[in-house]
Amino acid sequence: MSKAYQPIKLPPKQMIGDQQMLEASVAFHDIMTSRRTIRNYKSDPVPANVICQCIETAGMAPSGANHQPWHFVAISNPSIKAQIREAAEKEEEKFYSGGAGDEWIAALEPMGTGPSKPHLTTAPWLIVVFAERFGLREDGSKFKNYYVPESVGIATGMLLTALHHAGLSTLTHTPNPMAFLTEICGQPKSNKPTMIITVGHQADEAEIPARALSKKPLPEILTFLK
Ligand SMILES: Cc1cc2nc3c(=O)[nH]c(=O)nc-3n(C[C@H](O)[C@H](O)[C@H](O)COP(=O)(O)O)c2cc1C
Repeated sequence: MSKAYQPIKLPPKQMIGDQQMLEASVAFHDIMTSRRTIRNYKSDPVPANVICQCIETAGMAPSGANHQPWHFVAISNPSIKAQIREAAEKEEEKFYSGGAGDEWIAALEPMGTGPSKPHLTTAPWLIVVFAERFGLREDGSKFKNYYVPESVGIATGMLLTALHHAGLSTLTHTPNPMAFLTEICGQPKSNKPTMIITVGHQADEAEIPARALSKKPLPEILTFLK
């Protein structure tokens, strides 16, 4: 066994009974079924410590070789949010006026989305998620990260779940292309922006596309091998 492997013995974990397991999974399912992607926000502030706590939860995600190839940039500064909105809307204009191609535009029609993105300045927080293509040692040399999209996707899912659990609404926004975020967020070129998570409280007049409520039934997403 390699010297790098240093095992830590865990204390025994009490087994949860089958009924309790089922009740816990049903209760969590009920919490998660009320999560919605929200595009209209109140401008009411959300404390920075709530955002930090949820990002800390995201940082508990599993990752390839535990390299944790993610970085989150949390922004409440109105002028930086305005800069992001301006750059994003410029890309969205090109995207919706032909750049995306007919099939993609048709797929988005039921979502009712367009080039205007007011949530980027109305909502109190934007969290930009970056994927670290490689890591840096203290001496500046690079090391490879593994399963980067998978790891960052899992961490982002945990972030969305933590924010929802805290009573907040979110929008997963992916302007295409989104390279402008690297510079605005002061990140090294090797960090690839993957998503903007808009965070805040749902506006009273918020509406969602009916299509978003349609989720595939279990038999369609699950194959049980017996
Ligand atoms: C990777 C990803 C990218 C998305 N990009 C956008 C986007 O750019 N703009 C937008 O309005 N919604 C975006 N969405 C939100 C989806 O439209 C939304 O999740 C879907 O319609 C289902 O709705 P729900 O999240 O309320 O269940 C994105 C979601 C994901 C997971």
